[in-house]
This record gives sequence, structure tokens and C-alpha cells, in this order.
Amino acid sequence: MAEKLTDLVIPQHIAIIMDGNGRWAKKRGLPRTAGHRAGAKAVEKICEEAYNAGVKYLTIYAFSTENWSRPAEEVNMLMNLLRDYLSDSLTNAKKNNMKIRVIGDRNALSPDIRDRIIETEEASKDYTGLNFQIAINYGGQDEILRAVKKIGERVKAGDILPEDISVKTIEDSLDTAGIPAPDLLIRTSGEQRLSNFLLWQLSYTEFYFCDTLWPDFGKKQLLEAIKYYNTRDRRYGGVK
Ligand code: FPP
Repeated sequence: MAEKLTDLVIPQHIAIIMDGNGRWAKKRGLPRTAGHRAGAKAVEKICEEAYNAGVKYLTIYAFSTENWSRPAEEVNMLMNLLRDYLSDSLTNAKKNNMKIRVIGDRNALSPDIRDRIIETEEASKDYTGLNFQIAINYGGQDEILRAVKKIGERVKAGDILPEDISVKTIEDSLDTAGIPAPDLLIRTSGEQRLSNFLLWQLSYTEFYFCDTLWPDFGKKQLLEAIKYYNTRDRRYGGVK
């Protein structure tokens, strides 16, 4: 089997559920927050590796609509990490020629984070390398619900007839409008579930689960995932 990225078909879009930060920290006798900090470093590294490999879209699950139920200290810490990341976004975007977009419901985020998201998206909008989506206060069901409400409003306004609602109408109303569906989903740390991530978009995505804890996920592990992807025969419900 190929040992170099250059010998492989590179998925255009990779989505990642970055699991295992807490266990990574526990193994080292550290607080969970240290695991998240290490996880944020792994994010920076993987953006670089994905970009170098020729991946065009990378979407990561940074904070779910369900993560608010974690202890307040952990939620605050995660929000601070995102704050810091967004404040540094120009440097990060420049490094990997990266266009950053945030998906999820921003309304529940604090106003300063919302402002930083707008600034980040604006500052990085002309970069043409990696399209990097960060899911913050994101839930697949919530995203579909918000899309349905938007379409309902359009119907009410007489802008569209119910019988004209199509798959494309729905896709155009999702947070990911304009972004192709992921080719490969990676979930780290041995868990094998979707946890409400990109429910609509993952319909025909290949899934790769590995035992590596997220902070330890780097170039070697990315290569393994891409190698796995290359063993798959994508039929999209048809026959070959
Ligand atoms: C899951 O691990 C991880 C999260 C809920 C948060 C992921 C966030 C980051 C990696 C950092 C923020 C990202 C950026 C862009 C700065 P877990 O805590 O559920 O781990 P466990 O299952 O081992 O407890």
C-alpha cells in the first residue's frame, strides 16, 4: 500500500470529530483543560498537514450544542481557546492560505466572540488554499431546524412555493451552503458515533475511526486515514 501522500487520492473534504482530549489529559495526571489546550495545538498542526496534502476543505467539531452541559469551568476554557484562536486568525489564515468560516448558531455565543468570528471570516475571505470550517455551538439537528425555519419564512413571504422546495433549497439554507459534502469523516479516541455532527452532509461520506486521542493526532495518523479512504469503493447507492 502507498506510504506517501503523493501516491494517494486525496479527499477533497475531510471532517473531524476531535475526541479524547479529556482522556489524553487524565493519562498524564493533568486537568481536562490541558487536554483541550493540547487539542487546539493539534488543530493548528492538522490544518498545515491537510493543506500540504492538498485537502481543499477541512471541517472540525470544536463545540457542540450539547457541550454547554459540561462544567462551567470547562465551557469557559473552551470558549477562551476559541477566542484566542480567532484573535490569532489572521496569522493562522496567512500560514495556510486559509479561508476560515464558522458554522453553528452564533446567537448563543458571547458578543465578543461573534465579533471575532465576523472579523476572522472577513479577514480570510480572499485566501484560496484551505477552506477551514470551525463548528461552534453546532448541532446537525439544530442546523436542519434553522434551515427549515428559514425556508418556512420564505414560503410565508411568497418567495418560494412548498412544491418547489428541493434538496438544493435545503442545502442552500444550511450553514455549509456552497461547501461540498465531506468525503471522509475522522473520529478519534475509539468512539464510533456521529454525536449530531453534519447529519445532512454525511449521507455518503466514508467513516474512519481510530483509537488515537485527538492531541496525538498528527501527520502519520492523517496519512493512515487517507490510506483507509483509498481502500474504499464509493458507489453512492449505485453499482460499479
Ligand atoms: C472532545 O474531547 C473535544 C471537545 C469537546 C472539544 C474540542 C476542542 C478543541 C480541540 C479545541 C478548540 C479548537 C480550536 C479551533 C482552537 P473530550 O473532552 O470529550 O475528551 P474525552 O472523551 O476524553 O473526555
